[in-house]
Amino acid sequence: MQGVSSIFKDESKLDMSYVPRDLPNREKQLKKLKNHFSGTLSQGISRHVLLYGDIGTGKTVTAKRFCQMISADAKKSGKEIKWARVNCMDHLSPNTILSAVFEELNIRIPERGFSDEEMLDNLRRYLKSRSAHLILILDDVDAHFKKYGCRFIYSLTRFNESFKLKGYEGLSLILISHDNLLERFNPATISSFGHTKIEFSRYTCKELIEIIKQRVNLAFYSGKVNDESIKLIADIASVWGDARFAIELLWKAGKIAEENEDPEVTPEHVRAAKADTYSVITESKLKYLGKHEKLVLLAIARKLRKTGKAYLRTGEAFDVYNVVCEEFGESPRKERQFLDYLKRLHGYGFIDLKISGAGERGRSHLISLPDIPARVIEEKLREMC
Ligand SMILES: Nc1ncnc2c1ncn2[C@@H]1O[C@H](COP(=O)(O)OP(=O)(O)O)[C@@H](O)[C@H]1O
Ligand SMILES: [Mg+2]
Repeated sequence: MQGVSSIFKDESKLDMSYVPRDLPNREKQLKKLKNHFSGTLSQGISRHVLLYGDIGTGKTVTAKRFCQMISADAKKSGKEIKWARVNCMDHLSPNTILSAVFEELNIRIPERGFSDEEMLDNLRRYLKSRSAHLILILDDVDAHFKKYGCRFIYSLTRFNESFKLKGYEGLSLILISHDNLLERFNPATISSFGHTKIEFSRYTCKELIEIIKQRVNLAFYSGKVNDESIKLIADIASVWGDARFAIELLWKAGKIAEENEDPEVTPEHVRAAKADTYSVITESKLKYLGKHEKLVLLAIARKLRKTGKAYLRTGEAFDVYNVVCEEFGESPRKERQFLDYLKRLHGYGFIDLKISGAGERGRSHLISLPDIPARVIEEKLREMC
């Protein structure tokens, strides 16, 4: 075992391959799957479905969790549902897909290999001998489809017919793709596959917060990740609605806090984690800023680092800007001009602005630093101002 962490209770819960028991905000999709496959569970009827949506919307994890559950349910009633997931990016051709299935199921293949037909026959025999039903998840099936079209998918939907499987044994498909692939299937495949599709939309910020909180509880000791950090992670990842990016940021922020021997994960660690992921930012970009734009940015960075918060109100930022100007012997510009600087910094992507409702000075914005740890900006700007 490695050195004991004071931050992580169980880092493996942040692995991409980890499948949580509950999937917040994917209850509806799971329920649809359950309904769709109810005849499979009771009688071994083959059903097929397409899951589609953007990256990080939980397609893979939902398919896996569903298969775990249905196969446990089958076992309870003395039946067997096996499942296998093959990623078609790694296994493009029908033969490599089937080899991967055999490997998952621990079926031995002769050294010389099998033709596709022989593979399918062997798979049928295997399932028949066990009276087992197989749910095959073809993940990222777009990759396969692009090169091979519908042919192989069609033959899988006909798996049962061509061998007269009559009992519980048989094969069902869960296809996972980026967009609605059914639109591109030929009529024969559609009529054999069916029309069932389940959409996975991008997660909203609020949904991501729930997902992150679950991982925080599973992976971290209590009180180690504060709410500001969770909100900031969700905010950053909600641009893409991507839970994968959110979990990656959470993990990296935790590692950075651990390396620095800091007692908890703060927004500053989250910013560092993001900068680590996207090393976009840089002196070259900062060089294009005018003197006062730099001073405004420096003021924001300094305040955020010192307070350890994720957000700062425009009023507060203006006050610190005045202090910074004094320090650098510059006379501060008026507030209106200051607001223009903020807009420009936002346009360049250095800061994020969110309307925060009424502030002390009328309508106010919340400012955050999306890309860069405040400390890094501060150091770079201090050299430049
Ligand atoms: N609703 C959710 N609850 C918990 N974790 C989730 C949820 N959705 C996605 N995740 C996690 O986010 C990461 C990306 O999900 P994944 O299923 O791989 O997305 P996709 O296959 O759509 O690209 C995985 O680590 C997964 O466990
Ligand atoms: Mg996936």
